[in-house]
Amino acid sequence: MTARSENVAPNVDTVPTHSVPTNTLTSSVRGTDFTIDARYRINKFVGCGSYGVVCAALDTRDQSMCAIKKICNVFKNDTTAKRTLREIKLLLHFDHENVISIRDMMTSGADCADLYVVTALMDTDLHKVIRSPQPLSDQHVQYFLYQLLRGLKYLHSCNVLHRDLKPSNLLVNENCDLKITDFGLSRGVNPSDCLDFLTEYVVTRWYRAPEIVLSSDTYTKAVDLWSCGCIFAELLGRKPIFPGSDHVQQLSCILDVLGTPNPEHIHHVPEKARRYIAGLQPSAGKELRTMYPNASEEAVSLLYAMLHWDPAQRCTVSQALSHPYLAAFHNPAAEPVAEAPFDFEVEACNHERGSEDAREALFKIACRFRPELEGTRAPRLSNVENKGKRSRNLGSESACSTGCTSSLAPGVPNESTNWPRYGGNGGAAQGRTATVTPTPRQTAQPSRVRQQG
Ligand SMILES: Nc1ncnc2c1ncn2[C@@H]1O[C@H](COP(=O)(O)OP(=O)(O)O)[C@@H](O)[C@H]1O
Ligand SMILES: [Mg+2]
Repeated sequence: MTARSENVAPNVDTVPTHSVPTNTLTSSVRGTDFTIDARYRINKFVGCGSYGVVCAALDTRDQSMCAIKKICNVFKNDTTAKRTLREIKLLLHFDHENVISIRDMMTSGADCADLYVVTALMDTDLHKVIRSPQPLSDQHVQYFLYQLLRGLKYLHSCNVLHRDLKPSNLLVNENCDLKITDFGLSRGVNPSDCLDFLTEYVVTRWYRAPEIVLSSDTYTKAVDLWSCGCIFAELLGRKPIFPGSDHVQQLSCILDVLGTPNPEHIHHVPEKARRYIAGLQPSAGKELRTMYPNASEEAVSLLYAMLHWDPAQRCTVSQALSHPYLAAFHNPAAEPVAEAPFDFEVEACNHERGSEDAREALFKIACRFRPELEGTRAPRLSNVENKGKRSRNLGSESACSTGCTSSLAPGVPNESTNWPRYGGNGGAAQGRTATVTPTPRQTAQPSRVRQQG
């Protein structure tokens, strides 16, 4: 075993590591140690959420940049262990241009308790773009929404609900390519351990569908379409449409905008919730057209279709893709579905009894990437701490021990090339070139987005 120390960036401390059975480097980034294969050189901190700290790194094997997410102490309780295992298995199953995929995986720490997941490095995320002064044209909004829906069509064809779609979980590149990330809360449709999920925190509050706010126990693909509607509105208005500060306020925000629902639109929620709404002052709601005066008729029409109280009447992902608002990009032949659905019962950890089983399963996956780990298999933990269900950070975007806040993306000049389009003679994501097939309307490529610093 060798270990090296190398300074890679002024804000990254790198020291040799001697306790890990591979050629490793330990780099400290904002107080978090990354003990990883020396093949990777940590470059800088790029983000964090409720569960992971993410750094940009150079992969010296091919000199490409990548993102490495550290998930600390994955076996501290059953929920975190299962959540992580589920996320890893999902990422390994997915194969789509608008969904992030795993390049590599490493473990470190006592009993390999810390996990490092390597993915393609993206320039920024949509939360940072929305909060930046960068102008967003209607074409930007269309293209981001189109790619979100294109990725979601694929996820839904896997029978996977993302359940935590929000701007910070949508990674974007300067050329406006978008990839969905963070599958820690993903589940199958109406999962068997549904009650378990209901006690756990589900979907960042602002993007949470009303049926979840109202404690319905039905989980359908429509919950993701609601989140897409919220993201769409946030792209149009540059601020969250339903920024509830707590559970009750979340419902008031929705009632303020959409008005009191017809009883038949909330037939699916528990009687108690329906009585609660009936007892409130009726709300006439607001006109989305007035809230988003610069949005086109088509944009407003699609927004209404996504933000329907009744999940059964909310548009599906295919209907959204076919909506006239996205006509410049929609190309059914280039919107692939999965070859096989993801079987949560078999694939995910529903059958695993707890963190011990999840740990074994995660270790096996890590060995697929690093066969040398096989010989280092640690004894099973005897005193795994189980603190019960972990609550997700409610409401606000991210809460992180490193105290990260969103940096703003500065604007950059417009380019006069045509819009990229998936399909045809090589779409944007296939060739990463701005190829245009005949479209109902020709649009100029929007200004690029860029991460600050
Ligand atoms: N591949 C990546 N490229 C660039 N930034 C990333 C990448 N993955 C994550 N990030 C940044 O890190 C943040 C947290 O990552 P995420 O996977 O959502 O972790 P969590 O599960 O903790 O929310 C994202 O919001 C984004 O800003
Ligand atoms: Mg996240």
